[in-house]
Parts: sequence; C-alpha cells; structure tokens
Amino acid sequence: MSLLTKAGGVVSLSIFVALVAYLHRSYNDKILNDRLDSVLRGLLRAEKKVGFETRTRVAVGFGACVDGFVNATDIFHNLGFIPPDIPEHYSVIRDQDELGKVFSYFFRHGAAGERYIENRTLFESIVNEARRHSFTRWAVGGNAPVMAQRFAKEGCEVMLGAKVSPHLAGLLGSNIKIAGDTIDDEDIHIALEYATGTSWGNFKSPRANRFFIHSDQFNPYIDSLELFSQAAASFSPQLLVVGGLQMMDSFPFKPGVRKERLQKLGEVLASTSKKTMIHFEMASFSEEALLQDLVEHVIPYSDSLGMNEQELPNLYSALMNGTATLISDAYPRIAHVLDQMRAVYKILGQTSEKNNRRKLTRLHVHTLAYQAIITTSGSPWKNTMSAAAKASLTANRHVCGSNFIHLEKARLIIDESFAASQAHGSRRISFENNRPVSCWKEGNYEFCVAPVLVCTQVFQTAGGGDNVSSAGLAVQI
Ligand SMILES: *[C@@H]1O[C@H](CO)[C@@H](O)[C@H](O)[C@H]1NC(C)=O
Ligand SMILES: *[C@@H]1O[C@H](CO)[C@@H](O)[C@H](O)[C@H]1NC(C)=O
Ligand SMILES: *[C@@H]1O[C@H](CO)[C@@H](O)[C@H](O)[C@H]1NC(C)=O
Ligand SMILES: *[C@@H]1O[C@H](CO)[C@@H](O)[C@H](O)[C@H]1NC(C)=O
Repeated sequence: MSLLTKAGGVVSLSIFVALVAYLHRSYNDKILNDRLDSVLRGLLRAEKKVGFETRTRVAVGFGACVDGFVNATDIFHNLGFIPPDIPEHYSVIRDQDELGKVFSYFFRHGAAGERYIENRTLFESIVNEARRHSFTRWAVGGNAPVMAQRFAKEGCEVMLGAKVSPHLAGLLGSNIKIAGDTIDDEDIHIALEYATGTSWGNFKSPRANRFFIHSDQFNPYIDSLELFSQAAASFSPQLLVVGGLQMMDSFPFKPGVRKERLQKLGEVLASTSKKTMIHFEMASFSEEALLQDLVEHVIPYSDSLGMNEQELPNLYSALMNGTATLISDAYPRIAHVLDQMRAVYKILGQTSEKNNRRKLTRLHVHTLAYQAIITTSGSPWKNTMSAAAKASLTANRHVCGSNFIHLEKARLIIDESFAASQAHGSRRISFENNRPVSCWKEGNYEFCVAPVLVCTQVFQTAGGGDNVSSAGLAVQI
C-alpha cells in the first residue's frame, strides 16, 4: 500500500517536473524566437536603409572554372579510399593516400581548404566518378565569377577577367562582360562537401564545410591579366576586385614564374586610376613565399581587404613574422578577431603612398557567427552599418539557398554582448535586438559588427565568402 502511494507520488512528481521543464523550455523557446525575430527585422531594416546606386561599374578578376559539388564521404567510399590513421599536411597532392591525409587534416577542424592535385590520373578518376552521379551539382566556380555574379545581381555593370569556355560563358549569363579569350578546355574544381558531425574513419567534422581539389592548367597563371588590364582601363570601374589568387598556391611553377606574374599584377594595380577603389579578397594560402609576394605586390595596392576567420590569422602572422598559419579556431571569440583586425589595419593603414601604393581604408572579416567591418572615417566607403547587415543576411540566404529567411532555419550563436578587445578593462558592447548592428568609433576608423542568423539547414557552403564579401562591398561604393 505504502509502496503504491510512493510510486504514485513519484509518478505525479515526475509529471510535474516534466510539465515545469516543458513550460520552461517553451518559455525559453519563445524568448529565443522573439530575439531571432527582432534581430532579423533589425537587419532587414538596416539592409534597406541604402538605395542602390545601380550601374556602378565593377571589374572582377581572376579566373573561372566549373565546380562539381559532391558528398565527400560518399565519393571516397565509392572510389574505395580509406581514411588515414594520422592526418598530415601536403602542399601538393600526389596520390590518394596524401589526399586522404590532407583532407582529414582540414576536415577534423571543419576548416575550408583547397589543394592542387599533381597526379592527373587521380584527379580525373575523381572527376569521372563525380560525372557518373546524377546528384553531383555543377555550377560556375572560382571566386571571381561568383563575385561577378553577385555584383550583377546587385545591379552593377560587371566585367570579368577570365578565359572561359563556351559552356562556362553560357552558365555565366549575358549580363557579365568577359575580358579574356575563349578557350575550349576548362578547369574543373571538385568541392568535397560534408555536414556538421560527419564521420570519416576516426575523424568527425565540427562544422559543415568543404575541401576543394583541382588540377588547373590555366588559372594559376592569371593568364587573362593582360586582356583584363586593357579592358579595365576603358571600362573605368569605380571598383576593381582581385580574387582567385589561391590558384597560385602550391602550384608547380617553373622558378620565378609566379613572382613575375604577381609583379605584373602589382604594376597593373599601381597604374589603376585613384578614382577606382581596389579590393583584394583573401583565400586559403599555405605557401609562405606566395603570402610574402602578396604582401609585397598586391596588398599594398589595395584600399580594401576581405577574408574569413581562418584567413585573418594567416595574414596577421604573415605581416608579423612572415609565417603562414594554416588552421585556426573555427569559432574565434569576437574580441580576439577585433584585436587582429586592429593590428592588420594599423600596419596596412600606414602604407606609404609612394609609387601609387594605397593605405588600407576598409577591412571586412566574415565569420560563421558574425560580420565585422572597419572603415576609415572620411574615406570613400559609405554605409558601413548597412554593409555589415547585408553581409550577415547574405550569409544566411546563401547557405540556406533561399532569399527569404526562415526563422526556424536560423540560429544566433553569439552571446548578447561581447568585449571590444582582449585588453584588460576593455568595454563590453551589447547587441541590441532591435538595432542588431553595433557600430562605434575608435581613433580614425569606425567598427561595425553584425550577428549572423546562422543557417541550420545547409544547402551550400562553397562561394559563401565571395557572396558575403561582394554583397557588403556593393553598398559601400
Ligand atoms: C597517381 O594516381 C593513380 C591513381 O590513383 C595511382 O595509381 C598512381 O600510382 C599515382 N601516381 C603517383 C606518381 O603517385
Ligand atoms: C553524405 O552522405 C552520407 C552517407 O550517405 C550522409 O550521411 C551525409 O549526410 C551526406 N552529407 C551531406 C553533406 O550531404
Ligand atoms: C608568428 O606570429 C604568429 C602570430 O603572432 C604566431 O602565432 C607565431 O607563433 C609566430 N611564428 C614565429 C615563427 O614566430
Ligand atoms: C552566391 O553566388 C552563387 C553563384 O553566383 C549563387 O548561385 C548563389 O545563389 C549566391 N547566393 C546568394 C545568396 O545570392
């Protein structure tokens, strides 16, 4: 009898606990949803604040390719590739063993990467496997074409510096002018995609991302440069964007060839009219010699830089001591990122303007969780607050594959406030849900930070940085 009562008591207590837990959770859910909803509305308001100056002329270089998107673990399985025991980094991939090791090196950190495969037999076997499957998505690839398409979508007049095949020209659409020859063959890139928590052998991905492989023959030489520079001079763009240079990374050039090409690019940038703003979009660079060439021949001619959370520490250490930082935290603290941005801005903001060099006046870092932009006060860059909002919304739209933002597919992964710096005693800045973009002044520049409504149902990750960066730039000209 007493046992029964006790049991009954336990049952009603557990029902009561479950009910309280349920009410508490739905109350929490409601708070979270309200927060998401007001952040979304705030971002949309900030985005709408600027009317577009249509017909802004933008020239974008370099290179183009066709991207094939495949499921990494599926294609490895089909090809009979087995996961390695220990990941290892190779700059150039020669066989499937090395591919497995380099892939897992990036995969276990969920870091985006891109490597050249020297072995064409191996590369072609992967391309053929991708072609056999109807689920492989094929799209225009390369940073420059993705950025060009984004600018065209924003109503800009766009010129692209690339040699393209008729197939690629068809995919690009007619509203983008091509400054480069027509070629028959085309460079193909394969994006090995994976979801958050995917397992391969002993490894598990902490976030969704992709690893690109290619065996390019054209793009590493930025071979459209000469035609592009002629065409750009008469196009007189307000903005010239340089991207796609990671195709030169770890590519087996003959000695001196890469440096010579980058010197040539530097000369083209130096001779560009000061009325044209120059933006350089960073990428995953692993070769220290290449990083140094960029620091010498490209970065000093750039008014603006764009990069992700992996590329910022890489540039930072390249500037500090000439080394490359291949992998860093996928979820860096805001204070840490802001401090590195300040350091990079400070160094490059002091570039001497001799020989047509330019001081850095804009720096955009796009991370999974937030967007951060620095612009120099009084510089030609406008609307930094709207640019951060637009970049943030574009991140969700791109990854979810939908222009309309569904709150049930979005999540905020940042706290409600953040420290402005890691320095002792620095102030905290709160995200206001109604005005989600936080902007403040420091010295001669303004900082704006916008939270990203992180997409939880991933449709695509590749090309995200290019879309996000271009969307931000489009409202700042
Ligand atoms: C290139 O790849 C093929 C196919 O995976 C392999 O059989 C061959 O041994 C590789 N060549 C070299 C030089 O590693
Ligand atoms: C890849 O395929 C595996 C097994 O079929 C599946 O579990 C996984 O969700 C797929 N990943 C992506 C990113 O589609
Ligand atoms: C170079 O600088 C980076 C960033 O400060 C640091 O993490 C790295 O350890 C340094 N490397 C060397 C060799 O000094
Ligand atoms: C990003 O660019 C790609 C290629 O142009 C396009 O397919 C995709 O829809 C773009 N994303 C957004 C949000 O516009």
